[in-house]
Amino acid sequence: MDADALERLREAAMEAAGRAYAPYSKFYVGAALEFDDGSVFTGCNVENVSYGLTSCAERNALFRAISERGAGPKIVAVAVTNRNGAPCPPCGACRQVMSEFVTADAVVTFPGERGWETRTFAEIFPLSFSFEPQGGTE
Ligand code: THU
Repeated sequence: MDADALERLREAAMEAAGRAYAPYSKFYVGAALEFDDGSVFTGCNVENVSYGLTSCAERNALFRAISERGAGPKIVAVAVTNRNGAPCPPCGACRQVMSEFVTADAVVTFPGERGWETRTFAEIFPLSFSFEPQGGTE
């Protein structure tokens, strides 16, 4: 993924963060996922007064993509950002969920402690949980 493409993905994530519904935390997150068919889907965090029902920007972007055109295309790049100027690598739950849909060399870019950081997905989420469903229960 070249530098310009990553920058465009960060811009898409920042635009999505502008739609965040975060009246409780006031932490406004946006995510943009690029897939191996060239498509880009964005999402923002959507909070709820029952706090635990909050849904993160990354998962909203992914579920939106799958809902609109199936689970075939795989993620090649993820950008996450926020409107608070804070570091924000994807949370553990989102890493687990995205891990099921990433290519082997997918990259993740996010604001770190000292500006943008870009890592491979494998670096930020080694040893992901997985198993092969065996079929029936009998
Ligand atoms: N949040 C995300 O949208 N993505 C993450 O990876 C971490 C946290 C949201 C959830 C909540 O609305 C707010 O940030 C503060 O935790």
